[in-house]
Amino acid sequence: MAGERDTPSALISTDPVFRSMLRQALASSGCPITISSEITQPLAQMGPDQVSELKRINPELIFLDLEQDPVIGVQFAHFLAESNPRRQFVAVGPVLQPELLMQAMRAGISDYLPKPVSPEELSAALDRAARKLGIPADGAGRLPGKLFVAFSVKGGSGTTTVATNLAVRLQRLTGKKTLLVDLNLELGEVALFLGLQARFTFIDLLRNLHRMDAELLASYIEQHESGVQLLAGPEEPGMADALTADGVHQILGLLRQHFDYVVVDTSTSFAPVTMAALEQANEVLLITHADLPSLRNIKRTLPFLERTAGRSGDKIRLIVNRYLLEDPISLEDVTSTVGMEVDAVLANEYEAIVRSINTGKPIALERKSKFNNDLGILGARLAGTGAVTKRGRKGPLGSIRKFLGLKDQGAAHE
Ligand SMILES: Nc1ncnc2c1ncn2[C@@H]1O[C@H](COP(=O)(O)OP(=O)(O)OP(=O)(O)O)[C@@H](O)[C@H]1O
Ligand SMILES: [Mg+2]
Repeated sequence: MAGERDTPSALISTDPVFRSMLRQALASSGCPITISSEITQPLAQMGPDQVSELKRINPELIFLDLEQDPVIGVQFAHFLAESNPRRQFVAVGPVLQPELLMQAMRAGISDYLPKPVSPEELSAALDRAARKLGIPADGAGRLPGKLFVAFSVKGGSGTTTVATNLAVRLQRLTGKKTLLVDLNLELGEVALFLGLQARFTFIDLLRNLHRMDAELLASYIEQHESGVQLLAGPEEPGMADALTADGVHQILGLLRQHFDYVVVDTSTSFAPVTMAALEQANEVLLITHADLPSLRNIKRTLPFLERTAGRSGDKIRLIVNRYLLEDPISLEDVTSTVGMEVDAVLANEYEAIVRSINTGKPIALERKSKFNNDLGILGARLAGTGAVTKRGRKGPLGSIRKFLGLKDQGAAHE
């Protein structure tokens, strides 16, 4: 993320809409580029203070808005290019007459975008400038990270336990940048599970989304000793009231630009903000116990979840947590009841897990255990380094379906 080796840039624009769009484009590109100077005066009013500031920070990249005065803007670009020939410009402004456009090119403005500029055009120009400057591909051109959303249709199923420990396993397994996000709408618990005291939450990120850059984003994120990073959830009820589905889309989109894996813990809620996370997920981890109330809830909500998650529901992985061999409901029963194969089974280890929560030490770090082993298999599969199980629907009615009083499974799913 942002650091001392970030490439310095300057932003010169009187237009708050453009300035905000640029910050967002920079943040979502993940490019290690920092806006070291932001000049908001009209070009004609720039004085020695601004010029010496630009000399001091010696930006390699300049975002220049010519809207106020294209002629002076082109002259100014010429002046700036002469003092550092390596310098790149991304300029925006009105449609220029061919002659002035030619002068702009000669002045070193190789990328000129007539306003209004779309976020996509701006991101593409940013990528081009980053490439020309040889900025490493941490951001520029980088593929967005994978988004795994843990969700359950019954409280207490182990969603937070699985999300937290899975993030630790993924990070350990792959060494890749892994972020755990607590998208709980009421009281976030992930920080507690990691033994961290978070200074900020995703609500702070939401409030400042309009001026987000890599540096600001990094300041909202906590580091855990395991290597996993955390964006915490709200500390008090009511804090997430301002969060909308659109806000969640934007936040998760931004985070995926900066991390290889984003693991999201959710609350058991069908609120639009939670559904927005499922919609965007690469994989939804549907955590359940093999008990009647849980299976009944899955049965009732699966068609809705499949529609929400998209891709015909094939990105939903059914994870049976706290499974005991002696459970009266077998895995076959689970499959035939909900009409979906079980993707992973996580062992029941109550004592060790409660201890790990109470001491703030994820069990994934603590010791070898059946639960950890099971989680490792799931983690490897999600990271694409393990065996892939076949997922899909199962045919015949299981005995438990009668017990649940459910009708024909195929009909219920169409
Ligand atoms: N595999 C497991 N074996 C034994 N106990 C478990 C296991 N997974 C979770 N638990 C226990 O279940 C309880 C609930 O876990 P957790 O808080 O992760 O569930 P949740 O679905 O996030 O709950 P909530 O709905 O409150 O958010 C905890 O006490 C935890 O110790
Ligand atoms: Mg929870």
